[in-house]
Amino acid sequence: MIIKKNISLKPFNTFGIDVNAKEFVSVDSTEDLVKALDTNPSDLLVLGGGSNMLLTKSIDALVLHINLKGITVISKSDTHVKVQVAAGENWHDLVCWCLNYNFGGLENLSLIPGNVGTAPIQNIGAYGVELKDSFVSCEAINIQTKTVKTFTKEDCNFGYRNSIFKQALKGQYIITSVVFELSSQNHQLKTNYGAIETELKNAGIEHPTIQDVSKAVVSIRKSKLPDPKIIGNSGSFFKNPIISTSKFKGLQAQFPQMPSYQISEDSFKIPAGWLIETSGFKGKTFDSYGVHTKQALVLVNYGDASGLDILNLSIQIQNAIKFIFDVDLETEVNIL
Ligand code: EPU
Repeated sequence: MIIKKNISLKPFNTFGIDVNAKEFVSVDSTEDLVKALDTNPSDLLVLGGGSNMLLTKSIDALVLHINLKGITVISKSDTHVKVQVAAGENWHDLVCWCLNYNFGGLENLSLIPGNVGTAPIQNIGAYGVELKDSFVSCEAINIQTKTVKTFTKEDCNFGYRNSIFKQALKGQYIITSVVFELSSQNHQLKTNYGAIETELKNAGIEHPTIQDVSKAVVSIRKSKLPDPKIIGNSGSFFKNPIISTSKFKGLQAQFPQMPSYQISEDSFKIPAGWLIETSGFKGKTFDSYGVHTKQALVLVNYGDASGLDILNLSIQIQNAIKFIFDVDLETEVNIL
């Protein structure tokens, strides 16, 4: 385990922001993870795939890169398997591994950037499925006591892009592995969200397999979302706001074409992408950064933008949405 000094984090964040970390260590075993914590760093930044963060300044801390690897089937029944996955596995590699063994449940979550260990923190979701739907439990190390704790699904308090690791236990635990329950036969396909059905129909597929659903999702995502290897980004920059029914009714009267999803009797979710597009920001480019041309919810770094450039753009967007719609846009990405 080698602690390096003054390391550029550019290769470690999907926005491709070039800031330095005061200290950096990549750990590939829980022993090394504990050893790194034993150095009692005055400040710590835990880094997974770096796919949900905007770095706005150099990091005056020990950056702990979680590089634990391994996927193991831990139990099997006639219809299901339980799989334990180390935190440092790449999320999409896990989805591909499941498809290869014909294990179902994660196919709608194809091509989401990031690592397995950070996926529960924000309960990643796409195309009508969330991580919590297959999640059984996770193991995590307490940063202070260095003891391992198992969190059940109930313990995690999952919500829309939310969990206990973002709330009450923020910054207290490092997830080291996650257990998923997946179907090994009679897969329950979820194809009714968004463009999946149309995509399958266009491909002439009447009886889709989980592999077909994954291909459809990959194709939809590729058509809308920029590949972080080519254009720096962190996926959705904002959460879709949830507003009260009375506010929704007022906005709907003003903007009858506004898309919406009813969440409960007294709340509606509005696509932030629509609000941003309607405010005229979609595709706007400033020097080397801007709002993606095909999905207004995604802010992009075309080259050497700084984190502050992107942060300032996000504030400009939040102000415009507040002014035009009187709606508060919350960031989904962590700003550091
Ligand atoms: N829309 C616009 N303009 C845009 C983008 C979207 O009008 O520029 C409208 C669409 O026409 C549609 C609605 O907004 O009516 C919803 O769009 P979409 O289905 O693309 O989904 P989203 O709400 O924008 C969410 C997730 C994505 C996830 C997709 C698909 C959040 C914050 N984002 O986006 O997640 O892939 O649904 O399930 O919930 C991510 O978290 O990084 C991410 C990409």
